[in-house]
Amino acid sequence: MNLLKEKIKSDGIVINEHVLKVDSFLNHQVDTKLMDFIGKEFANYFKDKQITKVVTIESSGIAPAYATAFALNVPFVIFKKQSSAILDTETTIQTPVHSFTKNTDYILTASKKYLTEADNILIIDDFLANGQAAMGAYRILKEAGASVAGIGIVIEKSFQDGRKKLESLGLDIYSLAKISKISSEGIEFLD
Ligand code: G4P
Repeated sequence: MNLLKEKIKSDGIVINEHVLKVDSFLNHQVDTKLMDFIGKEFANYFKDKQITKVVTIESSGIAPAYATAFALNVPFVIFKKQSSAILDTETTIQTPVHSFTKNTDYILTASKKYLTEADNILIIDDFLANGQAAMGAYRILKEAGASVAGIGIVIEKSFQDGRKKLESLGLDIYSLAKISKISSEGIEFLD
């Protein structure tokens, strides 16, 4: 998606060879026009998959997930990050997730109320790095008995192994910008 790549090139800030800061349009301030394009792009790619709901992980996945769900005319569900387990297996499903980028752990939590066996879910997230967040969302959806139709990622860091892990689950992953290298000289894309 050229518009996104241009935005990353012009507004992205290289923190180090692993991390790109995109606070001005995705992680802190949100470019609503860009989100609208992103939502339409994901909706177009997954339009024949009979998606019933979009699922995302708080907080930076919310803006692209909203735009995608709106374009697909379906609701979206936010999986929350809790610092500790809620011992309520009647109403919630939880799974631990480790973030290698931030070196933190959290318990990804979803309400059972909004997930059914009839659901065909599209997972949307802002970044794909090591794939831990998406794998956690996948585990929750499988436990709920829902189907996973695919994963839409705004920025994939293709030099990390998240895609490989998700592909091994047989998932269709559509990333709008695939970064092959981050360096002080700039950002390189895969295609
Ligand atoms: P993974 O889920 O693919 O394994 O990713 P990882 O744990 O390594 O990264 C976790 C957090 O770090 C996520 O944010 C993710 O968006 C963010 N992240 C990873 N790489 C980058 C990067 O290069 N740039 C930026 N800006 N963020 C990156 P989070 O903790 O879920 O935060 P938020 O959604 O609340 O903003």
